Amino acid sequence: MVTAALIYANGPIHIGHLAGCYIPADIYVRYLRAKGEDVVFVSGTDEHGVPITLKARNEGVTPMEIVDRYYAMIKKSFEDFGISFDIYSRTSNQTHHKTSSDFFINLYEKGVFDEIESEQYYDESAKQFLADRYIVGTCPNCGNENAYGDQCERCGTSLSPTELKDPRSTLSGEKPVMKKTKNWYLPLDKLQPKIEKYIDQHKDWKANVYGQCKSWLNQGLHSRAMTRDLDWGIKVPLKDADGKVLYVWFDAPIGYITATQELLGDSWEKYWKDEDTRLIHFIGKDNIVFHCIIFPIMLMEHGGYVVPDNVPANEFMNLEGDKISTSRNWAVWLHEYLEEFPGKQDILRYVLTANAPETKDNDFTWKDFQARNNNELVAIFGNFVNRAVVLTHKYFEGRIPGRGRLEKIDEDTLESLAQFPSKIGNSIGSFKFREATTKLMDLARLGNKYLADTEPWKLIKTDTERVGTILNISLQIATTLGIVSDPFLPFTNAKIKRILNYKDLSWDNAGSPSNLADGHQLNEPELLFEKIEDKTIEAQIQKLMDTKKENAETSGDAETSPQKELVSYDDFMKMDLRVGEILTAEAVPKSSKLLKFTVDTGVDKRTIVSGIAKYFKPEEMIGKKVTVLMNLAPRKIMGVESQGMLLFAENADGSLKAVTPAEDGENGAVIS
Ligand code: 2FM
Ligand code: ZN
Repeated sequence: MVTAALIYANGPIHIGHLAGCYIPADIYVRYLRAKGEDVVFVSGTDEHGVPITLKARNEGVTPMEIVDRYYAMIKKSFEDFGISFDIYSRTSNQTHHKTSSDFFINLYEKGVFDEIESEQYYDESAKQFLADRYIVGTCPNCGNENAYGDQCERCGTSLSPTELKDPRSTLSGEKPVMKKTKNWYLPLDKLQPKIEKYIDQHKDWKANVYGQCKSWLNQGLHSRAMTRDLDWGIKVPLKDADGKVLYVWFDAPIGYITATQELLGDSWEKYWKDEDTRLIHFIGKDNIVFHCIIFPIMLMEHGGYVVPDNVPANEFMNLEGDKISTSRNWAVWLHEYLEEFPGKQDILRYVLTANAPETKDNDFTWKDFQARNNNELVAIFGNFVNRAVVLTHKYFEGRIPGRGRLEKIDEDTLESLAQFPSKIGNSIGSFKFREATTKLMDLARLGNKYLADTEPWKLIKTDTERVGTILNISLQIATTLGIVSDPFLPFTNAKIKRILNYKDLSWDNAGSPSNLADGHQLNEPELLFEKIEDKTIEAQIQKLMDTKKENAETSGDAETSPQKELVSYDDFMKMDLRVGEILTAEAVPKSSKLLKFTVDTGVDKRTIVSGIAKYFKPEEMIGKKVTVLMNLAPRKIMGVESQGMLLFAENADGSLKAVTPAEDGENGAVIS
């Protein structure tokens, strides 16, 4: 039973999601299927919780509209990238509401929960309790004035609403009051010994996962509310619980069970209750506590269920040195990638695996993306398959030639070939997907080396039979390469299958010297991968630079940005700053950002281009006095030469103000 995290349906998905959770899960499952294992792979969207309602509020639509929109979008992205779920479900389904309610009732009736009345923040004008992200305030740890009720995003501290200083409601902005409310708590403190025992049986888990669990346990677990005073979610199925819903982290993991029920009907239990079942959760590191501590204890307390056997969580993937962030649009979005690199899903699958954040956070860079494509996928993998196929077409009309007497190099190569599938499989089976891709590429290297050492293109003039042997062996290697690449590069394997014209070969066939029979007809070659040019990569980097600039312009960083390095008086005096007056102003065609000015600088009338179109209309600039940096080296911007720079002050809210010299400063007056 393999699950991949139910992502919140409040936005599109990006490379961080793929790298952290979905690609490793998909590789693992495709491998198990190829081995003939009985495996079920489920996922879906998490459609409850404050992240959804906040997004809906921001957009002025209902939560249902939000989750419908993003469910469809996220599901499509996964399909496009070949993530081979058996079912992609959603937690707003009625079956899920029922399964979760039943689960809650089961625990309730066993007396697992503590019923606790406590004082919680309440917004009197919005008439709502303020859970999690409905409340902001000053972080007691770092002073961030916009820390959330559950976490400070600046310093990463996990918080509860009552720890915030100067709390305010995100609904009304008002100071909340304290109000009594009753909720049902999972007494993790009392249950700690049970969890401790379970975690201690799993020293085999990845070090980052086991380590995080130990650190939670060392700090001591606290009782956690499994219900919330909110109106979006699964109603608490008790009489005295009006206006309360299940905590999103209570119902979300149960979503894995519901998805299995939806997929399999009555036979779902085999995958959750049979003692031979291995339950594996693929997640990102921010979900570790929920999958390694809270969900297992829910399953144990319920009884009858297997508990997670492994939780191979990854760390985070950063982008060009910066944390991926939806709100700052610092991400490579999957739907945008596919528009810009149509049909090239496997490159991203490969790069995100070869560079996966398995043991520590890692960085995705476009240069690395290009290098791995050009130097590995094109030059090693694609090149080998292509050469073997093209030469067979050239010398044997695309029919697999028979093998003659084997030389030592042939025997050694076949022996080495035979070992690859288990080497790659063992790495996948132990969740070492980076290592597995290295071995995959080593197999392609074996093929390339074999061709380079045997040089069939030289022998063809004198020894056709020998060339036949070499190409036969090369094509057997290519076939195995296809089979074992499928978990990583399913679109490429589909092409290899088409080219080599083979159908159903399983993992057990991989490594065999005789998957393709003598005389078997190949199809025409197709290129597996193409080189990516510098300009393509530069365009992607530019796109990110534009985002960064836009963020800097709108984030109010100016308010807090520290003083720059000191400059000498002489350096300052090198700048020729003068009073100027704007004579004409117009938009630069095809640019949403640029305005072009003619400026009377007292010395001359010159053209200056400025990236301020978002903040000023051309007509409001005419006649304005401005400060001009005269001696900035001229620069061509969108085909227009800009001869200097106009100075602006940036406000904290990102808006700009022209740095205006004294009204009566004459044009050309020197500012110093
Ligand atoms: O982090 C998230 O996006 C959560 N919605 C993951 C939930 S995983 C599971 F429990 F459903
Ligand atoms: Zn903080």
